[in-house]
Amino acid sequence: MSQAQLIDGKAAAAGLLETVRQDVAQLRAAGVTATLAVVLVGDDPASHVYVRNKVLRANEVGIRSIEHRLPADTAQDTLLSLIGTLNADRGVNGILVQMPLPAQIDEGAVIDAIAPEKDVDGFHRENVGRLVLGEPALTPCTPSGCLFLLEQTLGDLSGKHAVVIGRSNIVGKPMASLLLQANCSVTVLHSHSVGARELCRQADIVVAAVGRAQMVDASWIKPGATVIDVGINRIEIDDKTRLVGDTEFESVSRVAGAITPVPGGVGPMTIGFLMKNTVLAARRQSRQ
Ligand code: GUN
Repeated sequence: MSQAQLIDGKAAAAGLLETVRQDVAQLRAAGVTATLAVVLVGDDPASHVYVRNKVLRANEVGIRSIEHRLPADTAQDTLLSLIGTLNADRGVNGILVQMPLPAQIDEGAVIDAIAPEKDVDGFHRENVGRLVLGEPALTPCTPSGCLFLLEQTLGDLSGKHAVVIGRSNIVGKPMASLLLQANCSVTVLHSHSVGARELCRQADIVVAAVGRAQMVDASWIKPGATVIDVGINRIEIDDKTRLVGDTEFESVSRVAGAITPVPGGVGPMTIGFLMKNTVLAARRQSRQ
């Protein structure tokens, strides 16, 4: 049985970060210090790890980072007022508010408050609208990373049938828009889909972003298809915690033509695109 090609997200992200490093240096030579403000509210351990990695990576490529850590009981108005200050600060190019936020804060209101030109997550409704309309936009980092890996693996995606499993605002919906923009025929599957497995088996490209450990097995995959696994799920096997994706890697990799591993696939690309978006925002704001 042949084995799928492994799509190396770590290597792709390293290449991406190298070009970002050069762009940051070019901006600095023109008198612009690309700057990212990261806001973390509360004590969610996973969020702390994500934020630490984002700040480390920013510093590695020469992006200045400013961290704001707020207590878990922060009032929504306090957070909105901080965002207002960061919006008005011409020394800040990108603003990232780590999600999820504590229950007393309305995430939608927070996203709406971020200046669209500083919205490096691409979550603001103006950027969402621009993406859907095919206009220049800051696009969400994880689906942008998936598209990068797909184009690197397959070249031109025109005419390919892509199936996106999951319809979240962060991954599924923007992924579908990006694939449509790349001239794919796009099917989005979700919890109400009828005959999901059969529909998925027609796909040249599968992007699994449901957040359910190993839900997609080999029976969902057309032989030779390219599979991008966005899932990061912790499961217990033999008293050990293991990270697995939304696909059953062992069986799927015997059928697929290419597949991303978990970890080391999509994950590193997300941070890479956060840095790329920060440079893009800095460039647009300074018109470099
Ligand atoms: N929480 C999980 N993923 C993300 C992300 O991409 N951006 C932000 N801001 N929070 C997240």
